[in-house]
Amino acid sequence: MTSAVGTSAAETLATATLAGKRVLLVVSGGIAAYKALELIRLLRKQGCGVTCVMTRHAERFVTPLSLQALSESKVYADLFSLTDESEMGHIQLSRAADLLVVAPASADILAKMTAGLADDLASTVLLATDKPVLVAPAMNVRMWLHPATQANLSLLRQRGVRVIDPTEGAMACNEFGPGRLAEPADILTAIEGILAPAPASVRTPLAGRHALVTSGPTHEPIDPVRYIANRSSGRQGHAIAAALAALGARVTLVSGPVSVPDPAGVTVRHVETAREMLDACQTALPVDVAVFAAAVADWRVEQESAGKIKKQPGVEPPSLRLVPNPDILAAIAAAGPARPALVVGFAAETDDLMANAQSKLRRKNADWIVANDVSPATGIMGGAQNVVSIVSAAGIEEWPRMDKDEVARRLAQRIAASLG
Ligand code: C5P
Repeated sequence: MTSAVGTSAAETLATATLAGKRVLLVVSGGIAAYKALELIRLLRKQGCGVTCVMTRHAERFVTPLSLQALSESKVYADLFSLTDESEMGHIQLSRAADLLVVAPASADILAKMTAGLADDLASTVLLATDKPVLVAPAMNVRMWLHPATQANLSLLRQRGVRVIDPTEGAMACNEFGPGRLAEPADILTAIEGILAPAPASVRTPLAGRHALVTSGPTHEPIDPVRYIANRSSGRQGHAIAAALAALGARVTLVSGPVSVPDPAGVTVRHVETAREMLDACQTALPVDVAVFAAAVADWRVEQESAGKIKKQPGVEPPSLRLVPNPDILAAIAAAGPARPALVVGFAAETDDLMANAQSKLRRKNADWIVANDVSPATGIMGGAQNVVSIVSAAGIEEWPRMDKDEVARRLAQRIAASLG
């Protein structure tokens, strides 16, 4: 996660790819308007020209003077200011830009864009432009989830407007959920993707590679209606599969029963039990990298009952005899010549996280273990965020709290770097 000050990893990677480009930044009203300042700083640092247009409400949150100081350019706000019109009319404003970015984009400005309203300078510029438009919405969680906002966004997407989705987290209005403005560094990356797309070798470093990912829980049947399961949502594993595919890998995702959708561009094998998961993984070999993010049940019931086990008055509850499931990670890591070049396991623990992760690394012959604390207080199991450490023979690398999608992106980048 990037801090408001200092140099982030994304900043370091971005080597002035936007020099000479021009962004027209529309700042609409909302508490996140202050993040526009950081975005301007990041853009200017790359030599990108920035001209700002503010809505009337944005001026309540940040001052035109702050935007002007950072952008080193006049800030526009008033549609009817004769001075502004004579200096640079609204058509000219968009003509002079390579890209229009709306950050933060309030529910109001999204609705105006959808309806084609033009009752202030910001909406007029957005209606008058023929340049690409990127919006970074930010609003209260219920405004974000409202069908009107979602319908507006879907229509804008159909019209070719790029959207960088808000993130989930604690909000200024004391609520929790999606609606927080994406981090300025991530908006910068999206801008680079539009104005200065990287060459294919950089965008898809995993092209030609095959990746195997396991995800979700397993269900171990007791009888035809009951099973042993766990709280894994599959969010992290699915995000990893998507992130590896985004870097060009051919991905086979072996998923236990989950409610998250299949990631696009990934071959998904749906399984229920640990033994089915092992079978599907072995069938997927050979692979270059295998990431075992599934929460596989350690045990299954020795003898699944053919019929539903009945409750009978006066009869003791049944005892279930458990037997161990195969260890999929250990089996694939021991696959001899078919062993993937890189084997990544997960350690989801509530106690002694690092000691357990290090022992798993050795015991299961993995190359890396992604360790995470799944104590209920962390909210990680089933939640949108994760705090992980990468444990390998080289040592322990601690990552800060971030969205599971971001963990997945970073892990995929690290895998690409490791596979060379
Ligand atoms: O032993 P433990 O379940 O804690 O190990 C976690 C790691 O091993 C995870 O990567 C998990 O996907 C993998 N695993 C597996 N097969 C099992 C149990 C765990 O692949 N039966």
